[in-house]
Amino acid sequence: MTKRFWAPGRVNLIGEHTDYNDGYVMPVAIELGTTVSVTPAETMRYTTATAAPAGWEKYVEGVLAQMRARGLEPPPLALHFESTVPLGAGLSSSAALEVSTALALLEAVGVEMPLMDVARLCQQAEVETVGLGCGIMDMFISLHGREGQAMLLDCRTLEYKAAPIPADIAMVIADTGVRHELAGSEYNTRKRECAEAARALGVSSLRDAVEDGGSKRARHVIGENRRVVEFAAALAANDRAAMGELMAASHASLRDDYEVSCRELDELVECAARCPGVIGSRMTGGGFGGSTINLVEERQTDEFVAALKDLCPGARLRVSRASGGARRIQ
Ligand code: GLA
Repeated sequence: MTKRFWAPGRVNLIGEHTDYNDGYVMPVAIELGTTVSVTPAETMRYTTATAAPAGWEKYVEGVLAQMRARGLEPPPLALHFESTVPLGAGLSSSAALEVSTALALLEAVGVEMPLMDVARLCQQAEVETVGLGCGIMDMFISLHGREGQAMLLDCRTLEYKAAPIPADIAMVIADTGVRHELAGSEYNTRKRECAEAARALGVSSLRDAVEDGGSKRARHVIGENRRVVEFAAALAANDRAAMGELMAASHASLRDDYEVSCRELDELVECAARCPGVIGSRMTGGGFGGSTINLVEERQTDEFVAALKDLCPGARLRVSRASGGARRIQ
């Protein structure tokens, strides 16, 4: 008897590199995701039918290790993964892999764990076994996504609120196709720089900083947290001009102060600004390659996609709705 579980990837509308600083994020689950088929087996084994992140077994083993650390020992299973989340595109293929694994293993041990605890378990798997000091955003949204909605999450209190995306706004994901090798180590470096800046400013995390003390990293995080709150208000008020300005300011800050963008991402954002129907555009995810998220007037989606394709022929464009969160599908 085969059971199947599905977990989505994500985009983030705004609030980048704020999650590990106890700040605000506003991610959306997308229609691309990872499916795992689970059957009883003699020994634990995992296979994949599609391209998976380099060293993908570590993500699975990390989740297994976190289960064991909580006293949960799954029976031997054959886990077979299939994913539609492109790799290295900044769309959280790794969180989709971890979350689908966690749902499969929790079901196998018959434990119903609160979703936020599952998110934490997966985050710990990535930090401790994979070695990326990531925040909780990607796993949170893969588990808590809702159709047609973004989620505003306070990464300090873990309180969250659904934020409906008007039906006449489309999301267009533009993948640069580039992935810079240093992404992982640079990510950990940024995290360390933020901790140092917080220490120098005398606060426990940059969430509490009001002045940047001359640190560009702190300036980004302080401004970005404010922008998330303002964006949530703009989205609720359907103020598309304000949404666009906040996304542009977020991108500029990630490019100039946080220094996690790259030429290809900047080009895509600049080109998108010239395309019909655009509401806002910015890089999404960790950066150093990957994708931009574009909010577009729904009725002009085709024109927008054609125009952007024309200006940036190297980019891979995908339209996605906001999807529901991870679940058992069979
Ligand atoms: C990656 C991490 C997230 C978050 C983003 C940047 O996706 O996994 O936790 O830090 O980068 O916002």
